[in-house]
Amino acid sequence: MAQPIERTLAKLQSAMNAHRNDLAREPERRVLFEFSGHRDRRHEFVLRLLIAAEERAGIDVSRSNAEKLLLTFQNKSSADLDAYTTRLESLPAVDPEWLRLIESLTVHETYVMRDPHQFAFFSALLPEMIEQASARSYHLRFWSVGCATGEEAYSIAALALDAMVAAGRATATDDGITLSRPWQLEVIGSDISRQALARAPEGVYETGPLSSFRAESVPLLHHFPSTPSREETGRMSRVASETLRRVVRFERFNIMDGEVPAPLFDAVFCRNVLIYFSDRARRHAQDRFDQAVRPGGLLLLGPTDPLAHVDAYETLWAPGAIIYRRRIGDA
Ligand SMILES: C[S@@+](CC[C@H](N)C(=O)[O-])C[C@H]1O[C@@H](n2cnc3c(N)ncnc32)[C@H](O)[C@@H]1O
Repeated sequence: MAQPIERTLAKLQSAMNAHRNDLAREPERRVLFEFSGHRDRRHEFVLRLLIAAEERAGIDVSRSNAEKLLLTFQNKSSADLDAYTTRLESLPAVDPEWLRLIESLTVHETYVMRDPHQFAFFSALLPEMIEQASARSYHLRFWSVGCATGEEAYSIAALALDAMVAAGRATATDDGITLSRPWQLEVIGSDISRQALARAPEGVYETGPLSSFRAESVPLLHHFPSTPSREETGRMSRVASETLRRVVRFERFNIMDGEVPAPLFDAVFCRNVLIYFSDRARRHAQDRFDQAVRPGGLLLLGPTDPLAHVDAYETLWAPGAIIYRRRIGDA
């Protein structure tokens, strides 16, 4: 039973989402800030580049991104920046020049068990999901969108495997975890960044301050045995276990134009990604997720991401965490 305070918070959250969506429906204005001080043609090119980047990758046309680009291109002449902008405007998002620029504008920070309250809540919902899957297909599918170097996808797999062992649907031995037949567990990690994704499949991560492992990561460390570091840090690295690497696969996906992988997922995670998007792109992203979450399945967004389609989801609350559940009959 939800506590009264949680019901009140849920109502507040729902009203806040509705308000944000009203604001977001206002006519589109891509550039919502003014440059202070002197403004010349370089500012104009940088804004054109940012508008093109927003169309291709969803990235917000913000003052901080504009300042970043002005600094990046400070040694390019105005004529060169003009030619560069015109060339990029004619190229698609998959072009290596765009990928480089998008990578310079995106943040790839991530770590194992990030947003631990939401992960703990997800973990608490897993036994019910496993029961439902056993009445349906013995197949659980999860998608981490904007997974960066893969830590989120491996965290999802580790939590799901532990829940399956606890539910008697998998067996843990010294050689790893084996799912009982005919169970299947699949986690897809996707990102727009080739650089980030290139590191993900081997699952080798450094330890230490601000690394892939922080205090919150402790509950999952048994899935990441130690391995000698390749860097001369004097610290050990950790590697995703073979079981995790069998469950998780990685593929490139641009939220703005990629094809949503089929079939439907039991849960879609897109956390600490949409915070960098424009309102328009955030709504577009959630249209895509609606194509991916099965009825009764879960949508896990970042803590400040407004839900675009409030009627299509039920809001589930736990201390410090929100998860949206797609309403049955809303396919
Ligand atoms: C801060 S990381 C978040 C990683 C992980 N989800 C987490 O919460 O720790 C944001 C990631 O979103 C990715 N990203 C940004 N725009 C994207 C897009 N249009 N399509 C797919 N991924 C995108 C970035 O490349 C980056 O790796």
